[in-house]
Amino acid sequence: MQEVAQRKIVVLGTGGTIAGSSPVRGANVGYVAGQIGVDELLAAVPGLAQAAGGTLVAEQVAQFDSKDMDFATWARLAQRCAAHLADPAVAGIVITHGTDTLEETAWLLHTLLDASRPVVLTGAMRPATALSPDGPQNLLDAVTLAADSTARGVLVMVAGAVHGARDVRKVHPLRLDAFDSGDAGPLGWVEAGQVRWAHDRPPGAAWAGQAAHAALVPVLGRLPWPRVEIVMSHAGSDGALVDWLVEKGVHGIVAAATGNGSLHRALEAALARAAHAGVRVRVASRCPQGRMLELAGAPWRHAAGLSPVKARISLLLELMADSAGANRVKSGLEPFE
Ligand code: SIN
Repeated sequence: MQEVAQRKIVVLGTGGTIAGSSPVRGANVGYVAGQIGVDELLAAVPGLAQAAGGTLVAEQVAQFDSKDMDFATWARLAQRCAAHLADPAVAGIVITHGTDTLEETAWLLHTLLDASRPVVLTGAMRPATALSPDGPQNLLDAVTLAADSTARGVLVMVAGAVHGARDVRKVHPLRLDAFDSGDAGPLGWVEAGQVRWAHDRPPGAAWAGQAAHAALVPVLGRLPWPRVEIVMSHAGSDGALVDWLVEKGVHGIVAAATGNGSLHRALEAALARAAHAGVRVRVASRCPQGRMLELAGAPWRHAAGLSPVKARISLLLELMADSAGANRVKSGLEPFE
């Protein structure tokens, strides 16, 4: 058997507040995200190499505010992760990311990567130039988690807590512990350089990347991404937006439904017209906690308990797999008939 010569933790930089900088020394708001290079971020954290237990390798994949996340960057990031995971010397990957769309990237990677080793996303709520930035501790904890032999799958490490890709959400615009996993709770914590799993056991196989769409990774960036939009059901919904989207050639619609998947009747009628026209429709709940239960006889396929933004990602990949003729790629969601 070939000996693995070197144990590496790879840190992929994409920008965000963790790499943010303000001209006003010490300011927590009014900064510009994605300014400081990933090498500089690593250099600012004492004890990082020790936490990695081997070599740290940094790579700048992007450098921007994650509100501007785009398909090309998602494709590049997924491909860089897959390439590093194919290297047996890589023990884990850390991705520094803006917090605003971090949960979306986490779900995308969970769906695309065969992550038998940890892929840990982290970010910060205060820029690197703040009086007391949270990024350095989050980065140290993320490297500790990525180096932990019991960790696997796509994980999120912020403010001491470890979250899984499926349930994690940003829930606060300012607080340092801006993420939570609703009633699922965190998977664990990193405390003083030690990983402590909830219920004293590491996450099971379900948390490792299910790689439902791993076959798409090599072709991402070459295939066009379908157009999938989210439309919210609310008081006074009239469905006009859905009709307009169908006219514009939308491929999929995620309806952000009230409660356990209920839809305003005008919106529901418009969605029925859209489905009849060949648009794939999924229903996800607007509720920030819990998972929708699918009711017998419901006219719509629900989005497997995902939030609307994550349901959109699953639908994007499902449609892309179909158009690539990759129907054998196992989908996390049943097609709506
Ligand atoms: C971003 O998402 O890039 C900016 C906000 C943040 O990282 O907290």
